[in-house]
Amino acid sequence: MTQVTTVATAPIAGQKPGTSGLRKKTAVFMGRHYLENFVQSIFDVVGCRDAQGQGKTFVLGGDGRYFNDRAAQVILRMAAANGAARVIVGQGAILSTPAASHLIRLNQTDGGLIMSASHNPGGPNEDFGVKFNMPNGGPAPESVTEAMYQRTSTLTQYHILEAQDVDLAAIGRHQLGPMVVDVVDPVANYADLMQSLFDFPALRAMFASGFTMRMDSMCAVTGPYAVEILENRLGASKGTCVNATPLPDFGGMHPDPNPTWAKALMDEMFSGAAPDFGAASDGDGDRNMVVGRGVYVSPSDSLAVLAANAHLAPGYKAGLKGVARSMPTSAAADRVADALGIGKYETPTGWKFFGNLLDAGKASICGEESFGTGSDHVREKDGLWAVLLWLNILAMRKQSVADILKEHWAAYGRNYYSRHDFEAIEVAKADALFAALRGSLATLPGRQVEGMTVSAADDFAYTDPVDGSVSTGQGVRVMFEDGSRIVYRLSGTGTEGATLRVYLERYAAGPAGLDLDAQEALAPVIRAAHTLAGIADFTGRTAPDVVT
Ligand code: G1P
Ligand code: ZN
Repeated sequence: MTQVTTVATAPIAGQKPGTSGLRKKTAVFMGRHYLENFVQSIFDVVGCRDAQGQGKTFVLGGDGRYFNDRAAQVILRMAAANGAARVIVGQGAILSTPAASHLIRLNQTDGGLIMSASHNPGGPNEDFGVKFNMPNGGPAPESVTEAMYQRTSTLTQYHILEAQDVDLAAIGRHQLGPMVVDVVDPVANYADLMQSLFDFPALRAMFASGFTMRMDSMCAVTGPYAVEILENRLGASKGTCVNATPLPDFGGMHPDPNPTWAKALMDEMFSGAAPDFGAASDGDGDRNMVVGRGVYVSPSDSLAVLAANAHLAPGYKAGLKGVARSMPTSAAADRVADALGIGKYETPTGWKFFGNLLDAGKASICGEESFGTGSDHVREKDGLWAVLLWLNILAMRKQSVADILKEHWAAYGRNYYSRHDFEAIEVAKADALFAALRGSLATLPGRQVEGMTVSAADDFAYTDPVDGSVSTGQGVRVMFEDGSRIVYRLSGTGTEGATLRVYLERYAAGPAGLDLDAQEALAPVIRAAHTLAGIADFTGRTAPDVVT
């Protein structure tokens, strides 16, 4: 017999879920009652029973990182004890974030729990995380995560079933006390969704004609998805997918698809033996980086190119309703939206702000400079989706990535773009920098720096056009008369000290000056960014730790 136990627990302070759920060191999550406290707080806020007392249905899966399997068993036992009727779990407790979002929507469930710390490294000494997604498949909004946070500090008990582990290796229906656990193939439904959006026969023909590709899953969750879609369904040659087995420590990799962490892919794409196309994705499969032979595609440019060409894929042939980008993302996508005569939206950082726009049919494609792109097919960013849309565009245009980029810049101009991250700064120093910067905003317009004149400066605030909610303090923007822009923000996802992100942008209308190195083209903007914020004075840092 299974039996519900109610365990007395002391609230744990500081369990504040950030933009993407709660992320902490794995050891913290494995600490006594910690995971349990947070999961109980989630269930207390969203409820495991509906108003009529009927048990709810949730989706559960994660990116396969260390503790994923054991956390899944705890969450299942707690869902059962709290009255949930059914949980749909990816086999082996595996689900990429976009695949989980899709399963939530496909099965019209009451939401889902995703175990991931995204692109943060995994392992006993690295990071773990849990986030809750809503019935629309998207991340919980701030009102919900705030309520969960409040709950963690008042909680005095949690409920858990005393039961053996569910065999999550076995696809099919299992019983856990009064609750049903349906273990499903984590890949099949997602692969079907991709097949419904993209021209698989054309992609198969492209691979059959000798098109070559490297997909680097960075030993994280997209491996099985990439192998099934690219190699099995589209006929890409065996070995197209590398680092394709999800490992608990991601093989020691930092599964963040950017030029720094996906260096092996970058080296290959810039070598004499480069395939036609390269891509990488992150820990939980929602981020992507795309690279052509000898050419890196910045995420901001990728969003713009995808928006300009999406109609070439069957799922978007009717055209886009609008394009949304996060504020720090370059304005390249705006130029495409203007040319297409469709809506453009500038939201605060974090995918959750796109949800309302997608739900309301205002935007079809969204993106962030942080290697996230997606559409209204799910309510999360989706790494493999972006890769497949690029492939679909390449198959239709029959041009190289480099040529597509060149033509894009010639048509729209080029938004040179880069992000400089200063990591693990002492929180007090970072706060002092921002206090001074915010205090100086009113004095900036008209100021000359590096031969440029500041035209406007503010602290970004956003009013959601759908529900009217207001988000303030979303990042300091400094705009210049020549169209250049600097944005300063503090990371909301870091787990060590404060991370200062400086976003740099400069527009070149062309036709001359379109093929400079981005850092070179941005040099005056970079110097201005240091001057205006006094980065060295406040933090002692003169150079960034990561440049993307
Ligand atoms: C970072 C990215 C942001 C993204 C988030 C979750 O957040 O900058 O665009 O939505 O990760 O993947 P940040 O650390 O900057 O708060
Ligand atoms: Zn991620």
